[in-house]
Amino acid sequence: MKKKILELINKKNKSKIISLTAYSKNIATILDHFCDLILVGDSLGSVLYNYKSTREVSLDTMIEHSKSVRMGIKKSLMVVDMPYNTYKNPNEALKNAKQIMSKTKCDAVKLEGGKKIYEIIKSLVKNKIPVMGHLGLLPQSDKTFKFKGKKISERNNILKDAKLLEDAGVFSVVLECVEASLAKIVTEKINIPTIGIGASNNCDGQILVFDDLVGLNPINVRFVKKYTNIRNEITKAVSKYSKDVKNKKFPQKKHSY
Ligand code: KIV
Repeated sequence: MKKKILELINKKNKSKIISLTAYSKNIATILDHFCDLILVGDSLGSVLYNYKSTREVSLDTMIEHSKSVRMGIKKSLMVVDMPYNTYKNPNEALKNAKQIMSKTKCDAVKLEGGKKIYEIIKSLVKNKIPVMGHLGLLPQSDKTFKFKGKKISERNNILKDAKLLEDAGVFSVVLECVEASLAKIVTEKINIPTIGIGASNNCDGQILVFDDLVGLNPINVRFVKKYTNIRNEITKAVSKYSKDVKNKKFPQKKHSY
């Protein structure tokens, strides 16, 4: 197993794992100083492209954004989401995962689901593709987008799936919108790190969509804390620029040749 992945696993029960999404180089360069793991998430479909669902994201789009992100990362573990329909069976999954790994030079891929994709994950791991799992709310297939863990059956399935994913060889699992006490149980029952998003402080680490964290993406959901409102900062800067151009204050001599 790659050193970086082992280091991430070793953080379990020792120190919290810091993760964020990035879709481009300049942002990745900043996040790399603070993150253990940077995910090129297929959330870029809704955040950047206004798609109704992440199902519309193509393999090529993921690869192009990931190539940009790669240029900004020196130390963090880089994970790329495999988009919807690219891992329907073990052969297709392997072909597409190999393409992602070779074209983007990422460290691992992430797939959504449990029991249904057990064999697919096993085959990827057997073929030396490091895999991150994703349980709870699964944006590629979920219909209700409600938090998970209210019903006993749902709780049992998520715990069973987490154990199955560990058995299949994933090195970590994202828990998305999972009720806090269930996130605690899952985190305690498996030996690989859980990374929560809307899944409480009971997980081994946290991930957020960067654009949500800085208030660039205008959404309001319970699990997002907006650490700043970068839209306000951008608005101020662009407004100033616009005034300066109108008033012939920009460019000055020092900006000209
Ligand atoms: O696509 C994404 O950004 C994700 C994270 C929210 C975990 O899967």
